[in-house]
Amino acid sequence: MDKKFETRLVQAGRRPTRAYGFVNPPLTRGSTVLYPDIATKQATGPRRLEPVEIYGLYGTETHFALEAALAELEGGSHAQVTGSGLSAITVPLLAYLKAGDHLLVPDSVYGPTRSFCDGLLRRYGVETSYYDPMLTPDALAPQFRPETRVLFTESPGSHTFEVQDIPGLAALAHARGVKVFLDNTWGIGHFPPFERGVDVSIHALTKYPGGHSDIILGAVVVNDEADWKWLRNGALELGNYASPDDCWLALRGLRTLAVRLKAQEAAGLRLAHWLAARPEIARVLHPALPSCPGHEIWARDFTGSCGLFGAVFAPRYAAAQVVAFIDALRLFGIGASWGGYESLVLPTTGTITRTEGTGRFEGHAVRFQVGLEHTDDLIADLAQALDRLG
Ligand SMILES: Cc1ncc(COP(=O)(O)O)c(C=O)c1O
Repeated sequence: MDKKFETRLVQAGRRPTRAYGFVNPPLTRGSTVLYPDIATKQATGPRRLEPVEIYGLYGTETHFALEAALAELEGGSHAQVTGSGLSAITVPLLAYLKAGDHLLVPDSVYGPTRSFCDGLLRRYGVETSYYDPMLTPDALAPQFRPETRVLFTESPGSHTFEVQDIPGLAALAHARGVKVFLDNTWGIGHFPPFERGVDVSIHALTKYPGGHSDIILGAVVVNDEADWKWLRNGALELGNYASPDDCWLALRGLRTLAVRLKAQEAAGLRLAHWLAARPEIARVLHPALPSCPGHEIWARDFTGSCGLFGAVFAPRYAAAQVVAFIDALRLFGIGASWGGYESLVLPTTGTITRTEGTGRFEGHAVRFQVGLEHTDDLIADLAQALDRLG
C-alpha cells in the first residue's frame, strides 16, 4: 500500500511488540548490553552495520526506531542519527572524503558548513570551491575537476533562499562519478531526495522534527548498501553519538510534524504575500513566490514549503532602520534556529558570508521563522513595526 506522508509519520518506526505493547518505543538509555554467556556474545558478533543492541554507542532501541522512521519518510534504505544538524553535515563529509579530494559547495550554504570546509577539511587536505547556487548544470560543469568527489547542495540556500536544480546537478555529478549531498532540512516532507537524484540526504532534526526548540539532533539518510557502509563505519570511527532522550523527542515530534508543517506553511505563505504587498518591502525571498531565485525549480520539484523565508527591504532603508524594525516586533523573538512553535526574526545582510558575489539584493534583508501563533496577531505585529519606519 502506497501510504501518504501523514500516515507514514504516524506509523514509521513503531514496533509495539518490542515496547511491551505501548504505542511508543521506549526511551532506552545505556552503555553496556549484558549477555547470558560468552557463546551468545560471540554469536552476536560485531554487527555494527545492523540495528542490533551490542553497545550503547552503536545505538539503542530508541535510536533504531528513529532511524527506521527517518529512512522510511525520506524513501531511503538506512539512516544514521548524529549529535546535531551540523554533525549530520560533517560526519558524512569526513567519512567519504580523503586528503587530495575536491568538494563543490554552494555559495549559499549554511555558515557553519562553510567554516568546516574552510577550517578542518582544508587542514586535512580536502579543497573546497564555492559555486553560484543558481548556475545551470552546463554552467557548473567546468568547475568539476578529476579529483572532485562530492557535489554539496542546499536547497533553498541558507538566508538567501536560492532553489537549486537538484535533478539537473545530480545528472551532471553522476556522469562524473561524483556523489551528491543535500542539506534537505528546509525541504522536509516536501522534497523526496532519492527520487531527485540525491545520494546523501542531511537533516537538522533540531528544526521541524523537534518542533519545540528543545533538542539538538541530526540525521543522514542514504539509499544504497555501499553508501550505508562508509557512512555507518565513518560515524562509528568518529565516535558519533546522539542522546536517546533527544531521539525520543524527535520521534514524538514526527507524529505531529504534518499538522505543524501544514499550519506553518500556510502561515508563512500568508505573511509572505502580505509583506510582498507592503511598500517598505522590495521583494520576498520565499520559494513559493516568483520573486525568489529558483521559484520555477521549486514549483517543479517541491510539493510544498515551510514557515522559513526572507524579505528584502526597499533600498531607501538603512541597516539601522531595519534593526529598529526588528527591535519593535513584539511577537517575533530574536534568535537563531527555526522549525519551532514560536516565531523568530534575524537580520541577514551583514551576517552571512558569500565569496562568489551571490545573494546580493537591492536592500537589507531579514529572515522570518513563522510559528504557530495566530497569523492575524503576527500580521498586526509586523504592521505596527513597519508603520514606525515611515
Ligand atoms: C540549513 C541548516 N542545516 C543545518 C543546521 C544545523 O543544525 P544544528 O543547529 O542542529 O546543528 C542548521 C541550523 O540552523 C540549518 O539551518
